[in-house]
Amino acid sequence: MKKITGIMACDPDGVIALNNKLPWHYPQEIEFYRQSIANHCVILGYKTFIEMTAEFTEHHYTVVFTSKPQQSRQQNVHYVSGLEEFKKLRLPADKKCFMIGGAQLAKYFLQHNLLDDFILTIINNRYAGDTFFPLELITNWPRKLLQQNADFAIYHYFNPTSESHSQVDGI
Ligand SMILES: NC(=O)c1ccc[n+]([C@@H]2O[C@H](COP(=O)([O-])OP(=O)(O)OC[C@H]3O[C@@H](n4cnc5c(N)ncnc54)[C@H](OP(=O)(O)O)[C@@H]3O)[C@@H](O)[C@H]2O)c1
Repeated sequence: MKKITGIMACDPDGVIALNNKLPWHYPQEIEFYRQSIANHCVILGYKTFIEMTAEFTEHHYTVVFTSKPQQSRQQNVHYVSGLEEFKKLRLPADKKCFMIGGAQLAKYFLQHNLLDDFILTIINNRYAGDTFFPLELITNWPRKLLQQNADFAIYHYFNPTSESHSQVDGI
């Protein structure tokens, strides 16, 4: 299967959202995220998808996981009901593939060992939240620090069971 990289941000306790919004605003972190996934393929859960702008989906080959059958009105947007349908998709060969969340989809991809590596930003401050990244599922993965400042650190985690992970240049 094509290499898939997770990319998300959480606080030290795994918080990723409060009331369907990011609890923090760090423009430099958002810029890193935007540049990393720009024009590539993104895989996301339905709850995360409904918050995305039309502009976002225009610029990414978008795969949305949902159990409810959907008719896509955008050429770039593909709905899948689960792993079986996902594996039938012909993901563009010239694009990288990123699983961008939310928590439910990240947990599913990690539990099914579908990710080769993970770019995870850990925000330094603690925030109130209602949605949590399953940190316990990657704590055993070796990691490399990509960037650090007073607000956050960005780590590249490598799935120890994956054969296709790249140790070069972070992503
Ligand atoms: N901090 C970050 O890096 C980050 C990243 C992304 C999102 N977020 C935040 O996370 C929140 C959403 O996360 P979430 O965990 O609540 O939801 P989510 O993972 O985005 O979406 C959950 C929905 O995706 C579908 N889904 C998930 N796994 C599936 C599977 N295996 N098969 C079929 N469908 C599946 C289901 O849709 P149906 O109900 O339609 O079946 C499910 O209700 C938002 O507030 C967003 O802002 C934060």
